[in-house]
Amino acid sequence: MTATAALSGDELKAKFEALDMPAIYTEGECDRMAAMIDEIRHLKVERNAAILAHNYQRPEIYEVADFVGDSLELARRGVDLEQEVIVFCGVHFMAESAKILAPDKTVLLPDMRAGCSLADSVDPDELVERRDELKKLYPDLQVVAYVNTTAAVKAVVDVCVTSSNAVSVVEKLDSQHILFVPDEHLANYVQKETSKTIISWNGNCYVHHQITPENILSVKRGLPNIKVLVHPECRADVVELADAVLSTSGMVRYAKESEAQEFLVVTECGLSDKLLLEVPEKKFYKACKLCQFMKMITLESTLDSLRHMRFAIELDEEVRAAAERSLLRMFELS
Ligand code: 13P
Ligand code: SF4
Repeated sequence: MTATAALSGDELKAKFEALDMPAIYTEGECDRMAAMIDEIRHLKVERNAAILAHNYQRPEIYEVADFVGDSLELARRGVDLEQEVIVFCGVHFMAESAKILAPDKTVLLPDMRAGCSLADSVDPDELVERRDELKKLYPDLQVVAYVNTTAAVKAVVDVCVTSSNAVSVVEKLDSQHILFVPDEHLANYVQKETSKTIISWNGNCYVHHQITPENILSVKRGLPNIKVLVHPECRADVVELADAVLSTSGMVRYAKESEAQEFLVVTECGLSDKLLLEVPEKKFYKACKLCQFMKMITLESTLDSLRHMRFAIELDEEVRAAAERSLLRMFELS
């Protein structure tokens, strides 16, 4: 594998003009970023590494990524990579999923502070206690975990789901009663789409939880025909205003394929940036909030990760193998 041709600061600046952020992507900053991008691309070849990046990452991270996608796509992609090292530009639970599914690879997360408020909202011991209590009432109960959970939580559940397959996986389970953790809003959304009984946990994503119906209605008042794309981690009163409820990559596909020209993108801001760059012929309005965890990953930390081969994800084998069963069952059912 060889490194891609070097990008100049001017080329990068021209590319990022679509984002309309001249104070961030200045000439000097784009020159500095272009030099780092070049070094990262060379180091990837030297280290036999691939970079996987989530859709919410900074636009400059897309420039060094081998693949950018949503949680489901990223979980699948890590397994098939020929490279021995994966640098995961995303948050901790996503890097853990890559390690769970590809235990022989070295999986690096550039900044260990890149966590997730949703993943932190469920503790495996508390979950086991709740599950055992509920099983006394509902012997058929199965526990479904959103992938935004730690490996320790994945290890004690029956199956995992992502935002793009939660409804279809739940529908295929041969139980009426489902304990769904940790996102109460995704659980509400699934409940609306299925006749099963969903018992939810009380976690949420601090980013999506902040978005209110008023954020959407204020845009719709001026643009009544705008297509509203909403992530299912949003509150129920926000989901109600959606034309489509989609995962992050689902939103990208919808925007590209739809005949509509104007969209309101209701999720973390990185996704609107991705759409502005990838679909320049259409108009995107933002009802978004920043995820401080996703934004902890920078070109600097990615470069340092490759230079010093840090920070490696390590998992206890028993936990990894049990968590892998829940992820593989999701792949079987979705
Ligand atoms: P997606 O799987 O839709 O990319 O969502 C991941 C996430 O963390 C949303 O906040
Ligand atoms: Fe977690 Fe929310 Fe950030 Fe996604 S946006 S990584 S759910 S805190």
